[in-house]
Amino acid sequence: MTGNQTPQITPKASFKQYCRQESETAKLAKAFAVSLEQWISQNPHAHLNISLEGDLGAGKTTFARYLIQGMGHEGRVKSPTYTLCEPYPIQKNHLSFTAHHFDLYRMRDPLEWQEAGFAEHFDVPGLCLIEWPEKAEGTLPPFDIQIQLQAGADENERSITINALSEAGKTAIDSIDIN
Ligand SMILES: Nc1ncnc2c1ncn2[C@@H]1O[C@H](COP(=O)(O)OP(=O)(O)OP(=O)(O)O)[C@@H](O)[C@H]1O
Ligand SMILES: [Mg+2]
Repeated sequence: MTGNQTPQITPKASFKQYCRQESETAKLAKAFAVSLEQWISQNPHAHLNISLEGDLGAGKTTFARYLIQGMGHEGRVKSPTYTLCEPYPIQKNHLSFTAHHFDLYRMRDPLEWQEAGFAEHFDVPGLCLIEWPEKAEGTLPPFDIQIQLQAGADENERSITINALSEAGKTAIDSIDIN
């Protein structure tokens, strides 16, 4: 991880899981979705910023896809590689919120996300999931949660760490239960 968007800090809480295959990544993302939903139900007007970090092909989009679907989105989750941002309005039980999924890899300028009018997405109830936050060179609002994905020994193995960086993030990851 490079850049100053996610400086080396001590997380307030952490959850680490070794996923031996994609189905285990799916299971973790869905467990995370359940925990986030619980937080959103208690904080229906609040917003969480979540970074997805890892090398090309680490599984950031794959994790985001299972997470967004785990929260109740029933359609496709496209990679936002070319559009930079894809919105997913979710209505579930009494909850109504939006997950904005970003991939900033192709930004030519660190402020392109602002020029594209995306700043308002950081205020709406719900969450922003951001791949390649380092491309914005520290211009994004602070993160509540950092997800790090790392390749393992086998091509389908990933080590996934979920770090809470704020008090809100800490509560939001608190009830992750993969059993
Ligand atoms: N355990 C696993 N967890 C996640 N993805 C896995 C796993 N095993 C295999 N894969 C595969 O790895 C690939 C990950 O690609 P993905 O597009 O999610 O990566 P990415 O980190 O978003 O890359 P990029 O930086 O290009 O956006 C997918 O083809 C997925 O099926
Ligand atoms: Mg991706």
